[in-house]
Amino acid sequence: MHFHIITLFPKAFDSYLGESILKRAIEDKKIKVSFYNPRDFTKDKWKRIDRPPYAGGPGMVIQAEPVIKAIQRAKGLRSKVKIIFLTPSGKQFTNSYAASVAKKYKDVIIVSGRYEGIDARVKKVFKTDEVSIGPFVLTGGELPAQLIIDTISRHVPGVLGNLGSIEESRTASPDVYTRPESFKYKGKAYAVPKVLLSGNHAKIEEWKSKRKTDK
Ligand code: ADE
Repeated sequence: MHFHIITLFPKAFDSYLGESILKRAIEDKKIKVSFYNPRDFTKDKWKRIDRPPYAGGPGMVIQAEPVIKAIQRAKGLRSKVKIIFLTPSGKQFTNSYAASVAKKYKDVIIVSGRYEGIDARVKKVFKTDEVSIGPFVLTGGELPAQLIIDTISRHVPGVLGNLGSIEESRTASPDVYTRPESFKYKGKAYAVPKVLLSGNHAKIEEWKSKRKTDK
């Protein structure tokens, strides 16, 4: 899976992609993340890409052409790419959307906005999915883009390895326990639910399915 990120702030991705599962997924070439900065595609002498909105309004708008050129560079000659346009007014991002993108595409372009948004004509040039990560407004699309990379990557074969393989049919529970079986904190004992120590797989599955999360 190759993620192509359109962003003014590629460094914002370094720390998250440089740790743990995603770091390993990149090293193992299960996923690849490339960056395209609209600033590199402007003819402006000062590399300025934001301007006030027509007809007034708060803040600045990112100009269409540098973003279009950045997307075009990311797209290259590929015909089958998914373009995700991040906006708080988009369709709610879900696990099932992530799974279907992971299944159907090898290249995903994620467009991260900043300021008051990107000139709407970008969406006229390319067919995009307008996606929101939730009912709140962030200062930019960099955090949403990382969230989307993370969620889609979990569905890419080999990223989770054997440990948490998403294909596993066993039931996942949001409550998990490990050693010790019991400990005390401020005088109170905290024990692992007995059923999990019982070795009775039918009972354990029943217990888990009551707490099931859809992964
Ligand atoms: N940019 C700012 N807020 C956002 C959100 N909730 N979802 C996607 N992109 C955003």
